[in-house]
Amino acid sequence: MAHEVEGVIATEAGAPVSIATVLVPDPGPGEALVSVQACGVCHTDLHYREGGIGSDFPYLLGHEAAGVVDAVGPDVTGLKQGDFVILNWRAVCGQCRACLRGRPWYCFATHNAAQKMTLADGTPLSPALGIGAFAAMTLVAAGQCTKVNPTIRPEVAGLLGCGVMAGLGAALNTAGVSRGDSVAVIGCGGVGDAAILGSSLAGARKIIAVDVDDRKLDWARQFGATDTINSAAADPVEQIRSLTEGNGADIVIEAVGRPETYTQAFYARDLAGTVVLVGVPNPQMRLELPLLDVFGRGGTLKSSWYGDCLPTRDFPMLVDLHLQGRLPLDKFVSETIPLTGVEEAFAKMQRGEVLRSVVLL
Ligand SMILES: NC(=O)c1ccc[n+]([C@@H]2O[C@H](COP(=O)([O-])OP(=O)(O)OC[C@H]3O[C@@H](n4cnc5c(N)ncnc54)[C@H](O)[C@@H]3O)[C@@H](O)[C@H]2O)c1
Ligand SMILES: [Zn+2]
Ligand SMILES: [Zn+2]
Repeated sequence: MAHEVEGVIATEAGAPVSIATVLVPDPGPGEALVSVQACGVCHTDLHYREGGIGSDFPYLLGHEAAGVVDAVGPDVTGLKQGDFVILNWRAVCGQCRACLRGRPWYCFATHNAAQKMTLADGTPLSPALGIGAFAAMTLVAAGQCTKVNPTIRPEVAGLLGCGVMAGLGAALNTAGVSRGDSVAVIGCGGVGDAAILGSSLAGARKIIAVDVDDRKLDWARQFGATDTINSAAADPVEQIRSLTEGNGADIVIEAVGRPETYTQAFYARDLAGTVVLVGVPNPQMRLELPLLDVFGRGGTLKSSWYGDCLPTRDFPMLVDLHLQGRLPLDKFVSETIPLTGVEEAFAKMQRGEVLRSVVLL
């Protein structure tokens, strides 16, 4: 029997999202049905709605969510009705070459539910990042459910399901920020601020926040930025160098996803330093750099998918740090909104008025 719920749908590239009835099947083998309690609005949802990620419309948006397991498929173990979970988009397979080499955070064969959620007329939906949680219920692979301490508020927990994990992990896992490092973060939305928070947690000595919006820079200080640069007013490469004895930062994290900001990151890092790309570019974007500079400046150029996280390792740990008062994840929640507020939340995100709007269901 399929469950009927309302969901936020993107029907064609560039068109506003709408609410439609979604049919959610009961879980089959390897699947879990989840009652979504909260789901954050991530910039990646907006990329989907603009056609920047794919053309498999209609999309069921929403992928930064926490909720309670409603039912599991017949063969599912280790997860049961009533468990409080954060949904992840990295259900590792255990079989691919990355998993077999002991590096499951790079898993090349992550899985999602086998059955499709559909519109009322049977049109299959593509759930954003295999989740689709702007709906009171969603169907996922059981491995996409990570159990955490249920005393955390769902609107805070859900953020670990994407953007906040991506930023924290870019600093902690991908860049490996450690005590005494200098770090610059370009783009201080939810993802960039989480990279700032992660750098602070790791003991970075200097954390330089770069954005084109002064309001974002004020918020960045609350997450641990020691210095701020408005790159609409001043050249960020020169400014970062002058804040680091003329050298550049040990680590620069790009959290915008544009060739210009990537180029700034590339030149704002010290010789032999590290650049981490977390921002998601669109398919048209191209990067041009003198190959001699890529060679001559040495160091490491990495990209970070989902903060190279392993949900079973990282989510429960980060929830515990939050509950102990050591990780102020609640500061990312700018507002809570109803399902009908997603389109307006995209506009607020574009105007720079929010870090995260979170849909409560
Ligand atoms: N790699 C991953 O796993 C992953 C996960 C989640 C999100 N993302 C991506 O990370 C990026 C940021 O996401 P978000 O949710 O924080 O978005 P956001 O819109 O909240 O934040 C983007 C920030 O970049 C700033 N900005 C825009 N142009 C700039 C420029 N030229 N120079 C400096 N700052 C600039 C904006 O003012 C804003 O503060 C997006 O591309 C998103 O798709 C990646
Ligand atoms: Zn794998
Ligand atoms: Zn996201």
